Amino acid sequence: MVKLTGKKKIPIAVFISGRGSNLKSIYKYSNTKYSLINIRLIISDKSHVRGVLFAKKNKINTKIVNYGNKNKAEKKIINFLSKNNIKLICLAGFMRILSKNFINKYKHKIINIHPSLLPKYKGLNTHERVIKMKEKYSGCTIHFVTTKLDSGKIIIQKKVKIMKSDTPKSLAKKVLKLENKLYPMAIKKVISKI
Ligand code: GRF
Repeated sequence: MVKLTGKKKIPIAVFISGRGSNLKSIYKYSNTKYSLINIRLIISDKSHVRGVLFAKKNKINTKIVNYGNKNKAEKKIINFLSKNNIKLICLAGFMRILSKNFINKYKHKIINIHPSLLPKYKGLNTHERVIKMKEKYSGCTIHFVTTKLDSGKIIIQKKVKIMKSDTPKSLAKKVLKLENKLYPMAIKKVISKI
């Protein structure tokens, strides 16, 4: 296996809006001996969130983008992406819908993590809905982003069993643990084809 130094690694961007637990797990993976990626850029639409604090603490290049005007915001993001030569965009709890224009510009280069077994339970409040429907399993999915919400080709998906005692909160915790484990695996899978 080849060991790549920071500069030779594939530059990726992570987009966040909040807690940043998936960002943390990607960062941890990026620092492992044989990882092929380097987080060259973090984009956040919020400034005072845990993910941004983590990024700053670890001195990762972070840009807070004001979403007052979506068009302008995306133009700025595109500029940051090209300046940093970004080859893969990982959405990790980014709470904005990217425009068709943006998505088409980065076709096959944007991936997202979703806390359900897609194609089931697209959109928000997945855990509440899953519990309400008395599902036996839930899980998480990492998929390519297309212009249709939570619908692109699945890269990795894994399930967890739902116990009778589970609440949306306990299920969210279980699924998140799985998400954090799976995201680096999905990146590894995608990056080998870039
Ligand atoms: C995760 O549950 C992810 O599936 C969803 O948003 C949440 C982000 O969590 N898209 P974190 O900010 O990575 O901790």
